[in-house]
Amino acid sequence: MKILTIVGARPQFIKAATVSRIIRANPEVTEILLHTGQHYDQNMSEVFFRELNIPEPHFNLGVGSGSHAGQTGNMLIGIEEILIQQKPDITLVYGDTNSTLAGALASTKLHIPVAHVEAGLRSFNRAMPEEINRIVTDRISDMLFAPTHTAVENLTHEGLANVACFTGDVMYDSVLFYEARIQKDPEKYKTDGLPANYLLATIHRAENTDNPENLQNIFRAFSKLNLPVVLPIHPRTRKILNDLIKLPRNVYIINPVGYLQMMKLIMDAAKVLTDSGGLQKEAYFLNKQCITLRTETEWVETLHDHWNIIAGSDPESIEKAANSPLPVASRHAGFGDGASAEKILEKLISF
Ligand code: UD1
Ligand code: UDP
Repeated sequence: MKILTIVGARPQFIKAATVSRIIRANPEVTEILLHTGQHYDQNMSEVFFRELNIPEPHFNLGVGSGSHAGQTGNMLIGIEEILIQQKPDITLVYGDTNSTLAGALASTKLHIPVAHVEAGLRSFNRAMPEEINRIVTDRISDMLFAPTHTAVENLTHEGLANVACFTGDVMYDSVLFYEARIQKDPEKYKTDGLPANYLLATIHRAENTDNPENLQNIFRAFSKLNLPVVLPIHPRTRKILNDLIKLPRNVYIINPVGYLQMMKLIMDAAKVLTDSGGLQKEAYFLNKQCITLRTETEWVETLHDHWNIIAGSDPESIEKAANSPLPVASRHAGFGDGASAEKILEKLISF
């Protein structure tokens, strides 16, 4: 069987690394890897291939940055050509980026079945580009691999139960796998020059980066927090930050880091503040309280017992959440058993 995997953005490299490792262990399956080039900086792309042992992509479209239509359109043209040439049995797409949408759309129009990993997530906020990408991708895919039971319910409400199945979350598999590696040699993954006690933050969502008021409010809130805030900065945020914000003295900006270094940053943090989808879950898996800098979350399982607090960009809510007591209740299951990638491969083969 020949699977053509399409990736393009940071979280997709991380998700695909786990599934690809399982695929490569099966001699009956061949994986062709296509990188759209949506993310291209060394520390947004190459670092993950090297560190997570992902094979060199067979194709890199090099589409780079652009408007939604421009970027997605260029991907469609490039992906179509490669699909026609490669004739895979199945196309595998991940998450909710423009690379996901382009991969699913190009493939289904050529009558090549599409499998979507991380299907069924919904914020119910159509202003998010990711929400549009998810809805369309799920609607046109042939296999929907849902990471949570809530995702299965969402798909059921949309009439997609017949193609949906719960597999658990490949990012949970990934945290379990790499946490063990970090614990064997924690010093190796530690970031030098940081305060011992800190809050870890990331910001990159359009609703914050493209809204000066939200971004200013978030930094105003950070300036009032009792601990230093370590912020590995997404290039999108770096590009606008200098013009907009007077950086508070307690905020430590660092370049984006590799995945293992990021896991270690989470493990050593007092709390996590983020608008990232992936980071909300990783905080949860690693027993850290998360403060979500958005007005809703797709990962509602993380909300119980204040493990994840929705604060938006409101300074008072952020400050209150950052100063709130840590959760005492233990975490619930709900993201699978750490073998989601194996289940995904089984389903792909039986399809
Ligand atoms: C994209 C995804 C988002 C995901 C995020 C993960 C879409 C619509 N959005 O958002 O869902 O959460 O990736 O990080 O697909 N840039 C660089 N170097 C790079 C990559 C980007 O400088 O290697 C800068 C460019 O100025 C670019 C901007 O970041 O215009 C935004 O990049 P883009 O890929 O369009 O969206 P993200 O915000 O990264
Ligand atoms: N991440 C990383 N280095 C960083 C910031 C994030 O390795 O400097 C990882 C993070 O741990 C998570 C993934 O990137 O696994 C999340 O990606 P991002 O926040 O860009 O996208 P989202 O999950 O919001 O789609």
